[in-house]
Amino acid sequence: MASVVVIVGTQWGDEGKGKVVDLYAEEADIIARFQGGNNAGHTLVVNGEQTILHVIPSGILHDNKTCIVGNGVVVDPKVLIEEIDSLKRRGFFPINTKLYISENAHIIMPYHRRLDSARESRKGSKKVGTTGRGIGPCYEDKIARVGIRLCDLIDDEIFREKLKTNVEEKNFFLTDFFKEEPVDEQAIYDEYRRYADRLRPYAADTSIIINREMEKGRKILFEGAQGCHLDIDHGTFPFVTSSNTVAGNACCGAGVGPTKINSVVGICKAYTTRVGGGPFVTELTDDIGKRIQETGKEFGATTGRKRRCGWLDMVLVRKSIRVSGVTGLAITKLDVLTGIEKLKICVGYKIDDKKFTESVPSNLKTLAMCQPVYEEMEGWVEDISNARKIEELPTNAGRYVERIEELGGIKVFLVSVGAGRDETITVKNPFG
Ligand code: GDP
Ligand code: IMO
Ligand code: MG
Repeated sequence: MASVVVIVGTQWGDEGKGKVVDLYAEEADIIARFQGGNNAGHTLVVNGEQTILHVIPSGILHDNKTCIVGNGVVVDPKVLIEEIDSLKRRGFFPINTKLYISENAHIIMPYHRRLDSARESRKGSKKVGTTGRGIGPCYEDKIARVGIRLCDLIDDEIFREKLKTNVEEKNFFLTDFFKEEPVDEQAIYDEYRRYADRLRPYAADTSIIINREMEKGRKILFEGAQGCHLDIDHGTFPFVTSSNTVAGNACCGAGVGPTKINSVVGICKAYTTRVGGGPFVTELTDDIGKRIQETGKEFGATTGRKRRCGWLDMVLVRKSIRVSGVTGLAITKLDVLTGIEKLKICVGYKIDDKKFTESVPSNLKTLAMCQPVYEEMEGWVEDISNARKIEELPTNAGRYVERIEELGGIKVFLVSVGAGRDETITVKNPFG
């Protein structure tokens, strides 16, 4: 019986991972984030009340769980502390649920945010459209082996020394290269000392916690952030985030072996969205795109930016299934397509007469030349938000789901027909 499940986005993020993780968390013992940071915005709607999580795993609303922020996550301590405080204030941090932060997780510093925005401004029209949260610069410092981890932050001596070295270098970039104001080392020290005191009780060797629980046969849920096509290696580089978002990174980002993963659920919106810059073959700039944006309330959960919308692109989804070893799909926001007369699914790309269905060209000039090859399907007008079984969907909605299964060569585990926890059709339980 499978007991370790990884949840990943199969598009450009915001597929509804938060909703699905919250739903599966009911059955899980441990819910762990393994990459990304507060660039993520995961929305949960429980009893009509909305909670948006940026750092804390989406299992937090359930009692008796262990929530883990793994070593692969970059942590903005201010955001994390605010999130903890806000959940507690609202009575949404159940008393028997524990939160641990990996002592190896890297800490986002004020100079990371400053460098993020300075770099974006300099790029002008070529900017990535980052969330401005300092994610890229923080991961850069990790790879450059100069970053500050949680275990460094909570050790005063180490923190002071590392901060000094980093501020010296970052201020050189900020003032000499970007012609901006420097950051103030003492002010950062004072601010981050307070954060250290707040976060010390949560710091732990989270790999040990997870592996111990695995040995006891407990159920573990790994919550990916972003989506496959924002992956630093497999996404539409450079219009990507700075971490590996694919399922394999659950192992590196949480400290577990690949042999332990039993199932990978790929979250796939019934259409496609993207926030920020970068190629988008099936983007709709017409009234249908506007309608999907409005009906789907497609605004960024982190930055509030309007999300670009387009038809479902199965070339992207197929690639995600391949690189993440997805075992089942969760189709979300099917209800948003209700009332659109003719639906389109992109089944391949073409450049002149050459058609391809498997690969997404890496060369951005080639990708920009790609035209979508569409298959048209009849839509439905019936309200589907009350459907709780596949058989309760109107024929054409059922066909749409079936076609995704055929084109993806994979089974659908779940169909989401509304933002609420209960607005869900469960076909197969990924825990077995
Ligand atoms: P995530 O980043 O993948 O967790 O997704 P976001 O939370 O950023 O965006 C998904 C949005 O869609 C949130 O506002 C969810 O509440 C909402 N949502 C999730 N599933 C459904 C669904 O099936 N139907 C509708 N209408 N909204 C949904
Ligand atoms: P969730 O987990 C959608 C996008 C940004 C930008 C690019 C790089 O909610 O699905 P970054 O700040 O990470 O350096 O920005 O990645 N991006 C997301 N888009 N959902 C997300 O997270 C995202 N996290 C980052 O818009 O294009
Ligand atoms: Mg989101």
